[in-house]
Amino acid sequence: MSIIEKAVGKTGRRDNERQDSGVKDTSQSSETGALSPNDDRYPDESADYSAVTVKLPTAKFQQLGMITLDRPRSQIAEEYRIIKRPLLMNIAGKTASPIAYSNMIMVTSSLQGEGKTFTALNLAMSMALEEDKTVLFVDADFSKGTASSLLEIPAGRPGLIDVLEDENLEISDVLLHTNVSNLRIIPTGHLHERSTEMLASGGMQELMHELSVRYPDRVVVFDSPPLLLTTEAAVLASLMGQIVFVVAAEQTSRESISAALEHISGDKVVGTVLNKTQKYIWDHFRYGHGYGYGYGYGGYGQSSEVGTG
Ligand SMILES: Nc1ncnc2c1ncn2[C@@H]1O[C@H](COP(=O)(O)OP(=O)(O)OP(=O)(O)O)[C@@H](O)[C@H]1O
Ligand SMILES: [Mg+2]
Repeated sequence: MSIIEKAVGKTGRRDNERQDSGVKDTSQSSETGALSPNDDRYPDESADYSAVTVKLPTAKFQQLGMITLDRPRSQIAEEYRIIKRPLLMNIAGKTASPIAYSNMIMVTSSLQGEGKTFTALNLAMSMALEEDKTVLFVDADFSKGTASSLLEIPAGRPGLIDVLEDENLEISDVLLHTNVSNLRIIPTGHLHERSTEMLASGGMQELMHELSVRYPDRVVVFDSPPLLLTTEAAVLASLMGQIVFVVAAEQTSRESISAALEHISGDKVVGTVLNKTQKYIWDHFRYGHGYGYGYGYGGYGQSSEVGTG
């Protein structure tokens, strides 16, 4: 059974079944290096952030159920520890054969509203808060720029689009620091009617190469448009080392998943996040995640999966 079949098969599972799947409880683990107030990655509230430093909107992130700076042990933070682990292992080269551009990770899905932006931001947050790495979050959804809006990037800030359009601009000119010392952001910049087409341009290809060469020790996480609605998303995927494919439980159809995966070339490492699973906890439902990890060959190769209870 392919990892996708497993992922789809899981959409109706209940919480207790998921706990039986050999999932390690990481809540007591010290491996994750949770933040302590003395940790220099911890945001310094009194620091004087310059105009180009983005302060992450903690209250908004909390409201949306996302990972926030002040709750390193939240359920969502625990879930993303499991989701990021195989991605980081691939970057560390703990694989049978090396993965080209393994630090370039694109989060995508078949259709709209399945949780790409939610997943990409959480992944970037989780890695930046806990790993000894600098994380660069790139908003490459040139059709919407949802992440840039969520992050409250000041209007008019140039971004990736502007670097593609203006030969005088470099990546470093549009890169924003945040109040998490090892999290940087590249916003979309000035969206326009034809900006999505630029994802498939030669300039984008060069820029992606430059990003991976210039920042080889960084994890670069891309939010992106859906594969079935934007042909350029597939071109972007071809420039990545790893793909995180988001499947929305009880929303994404099996047909959509298969059709979307056709757009990802067979040599890519594809991991699947099963998003928006409803888990019955006490007297209310909440969203949760499962993570299926398929190594090589479009996710149809060897696979294992984990999920959180
Ligand atoms: N696991 C989750 N828990 C809670 N809310 C979620 C979860 N996943 C997604 N959402 C919410 O669902 C909505 C759609 O998610 P999101 O914007 O991330 O989807 P998307 O795939 O990026 O959509 P688009 O294709 O329009 O860019 C958002 O309001 C988001 O906050
Ligand atoms: Mg989005």
